[in-house]
Amino acid sequence: GSKAGKRKGIDMLYSQDLIEEVRSRNDIVDVISQYVSLKRNGNRYVGLCPFHNEKTPSFYVNRQNQFFYCFGCHVGGDLFTFMKDYESMTFQEAVKYLADRAGVSLPEVPMGEEEKRKLDQADRMKDMYKEAAVFYYKALFTPAGKNGLDYFTKRGLDREAIKKYGLGYAPSGSYLYKHLRSKGYSDRELADSRLVRINEKGAFDFFWNRVMFPIFDKGGHVIAFGGRVLDDSKPKYVNSDETLIFKKSNNLYGQQIAAKSRGDTILLCEGYMDVIALQQAGFTNSVAALGTAFNLDHVLAMKRTFRGKDKVILTLDSDSAGRASARKAINTLREGGYEDVRVLDMSPAKDPDEFIKTYGAKGYAERIEQALDSFRFEVKCKRNDFDLSNPDQKTAFHHSIAEMLYPISDEMKRNNYMEAVCEQEGIELSAMRKLVNKLGEENRVKKVVTVSEDTVIRQVKKDPLDGVLRSEQMLITLMAMRPEIIDAVSAYLKEDDFSSEMGRGITALMFEKTMGGKMTPAQIMEKVAKSDEDTAAVAAYFNYNGSELNEGTDLSKVLTDAVKQIKRASLQRQSAGCTDMAQLQKIVYEQRAVNTMVINVP
Ligand code: UTP
Ligand code: MN
Repeated sequence: GSKAGKRKGIDMLYSQDLIEEVRSRNDIVDVISQYVSLKRNGNRYVGLCPFHNEKTPSFYVNRQNQFFYCFGCHVGGDLFTFMKDYESMTFQEAVKYLADRAGVSLPEVPMGEEEKRKLDQADRMKDMYKEAAVFYYKALFTPAGKNGLDYFTKRGLDREAIKKYGLGYAPSGSYLYKHLRSKGYSDRELADSRLVRINEKGAFDFFWNRVMFPIFDKGGHVIAFGGRVLDDSKPKYVNSDETLIFKKSNNLYGQQIAAKSRGDTILLCEGYMDVIALQQAGFTNSVAALGTAFNLDHVLAMKRTFRGKDKVILTLDSDSAGRASARKAINTLREGGYEDVRVLDMSPAKDPDEFIKTYGAKGYAERIEQALDSFRFEVKCKRNDFDLSNPDQKTAFHHSIAEMLYPISDEMKRNNYMEAVCEQEGIELSAMRKLVNKLGEENRVKKVVTVSEDTVIRQVKKDPLDGVLRSEQMLITLMAMRPEIIDAVSAYLKEDDFSSEMGRGITALMFEKTMGGKMTPAQIMEKVAKSDEDTAAVAAYFNYNGSELNEGTDLSKVLTDAVKQIKRASLQRQSAGCTDMAQLQKIVYEQRAVNTMVINVP
């Protein structure tokens, strides 16, 4: 595929030795623990997979072979793979990051021409945006910008706040264009930045007569702007187009400040002014989506930017549109893996900006305490769909609550929600319990059986997993765990005895080890895997998860059975295509020998 060889091509920039040094100086469990909370489970570590949403942990990290693997979504690989996938790094960036982390110094790498050009372009564009922000800021304090300054003052922002958020004013015309030209930027660059529009009539600034809100990346560089009109005309806000340095859904307004805030919670609100009002009132963990509907990309960006903040409180406008977006946002956040989502009620205020002005930070802190968990919020929203004075509708409302309760598999959680909701809605608890149990009973039959992990490995392979492949995966995992058995295994099995090309590639390298080589599973993967799919498949070979390897089993027996099974399958394949009498005889002889074979685990 298109991914093939990519990793290898880039490897060439650093020597294999250097990469191995970086690898050996970082422990995969330590590194992944920075991002995922892992629990020890035998000789492996297990946690909730950061690459898909799950409630029961199927993400395994193996200290011994330095691999991770998820039995739910089949991502897997080594440390470098993890950094690439989790942080969207290139292989090279992952090497750099991990080298830094371990104090390994890397030689300067000459950059590819294309890469260099892109980087220069992005750097120059960031400089340009900074220059523009300074220009807009200064314009506030000119006669032309007086209306803008008055506007901010009227909204309660003092000089200090204006400075902190880099607020500004965009005059009408082409002043910014002229300014940036005088700083040496070309028409081409100015057009690419979208700060200026250039056509046959001339060059015009993109933002006209608006107060300006710079948007910062999490490191504090200006990457875009939102511009607001000073009156009630439409559109109220105009936002920068996406550019080389700005992707709307990857950024949140206020992130540069929220990223440095303490605590485990994010406050998600709607507007620029809401974020400023909340942060100024001390709630520095506030952010807002930028001129686009809140979506899964935002959630993924949140997970990257606000590590350790796993709770979200929605503080969206209190009108019906705000409630509808809250319901949607709850689902999106869930999809991205946020479990603890609450909804804050600001009524009678319309939005956080208004709330803080009327009730102050103390009032807001109280509302945070009172925020409803997403379950009770959903029930409250549902209530509005029914006319509760009508007995039939009331029953339907109660039924709809039971529909929400019965799928919650954790009994304690289900009971707690049930009690809280019945209390909130004045419903008799025992009646609700009956209803929920009845629904649970009715639906039990339909319940999907959870897939076993073996099935999952089979899916990775995409072939039906006969016992042979299963034994091959187990054997390879076992040899990685106990390298001392490799000699014994290779006395009976050759790499050609393995059924897949991948298995043959891996064992060829493992058996080589007995001839004085020293290959770790990660190095083997490096050599064998040619694409990201390969990487996951190799990881599956090294992460066999069946009960045979549990503590207390007779490893010699498990090992002997596996080797026998693999050998028999191999001999069968050989005999199937064989017409040479002497060769056939040899196969029959070998088949007999298999029966008496015994391998002892030292
Ligand atoms: P709001 O109208 O609630 O914004 O829209 P706000 O910040 O509270 O505005 P004011 O100044 O207090 O009246 C919420 C967000 O939706 C986007 C902006 O990101 C805004 O902050 N939006 C709104 C637009 O992109 N364009 C618009 O025309 C309106
Ligand atoms: Mn608003």
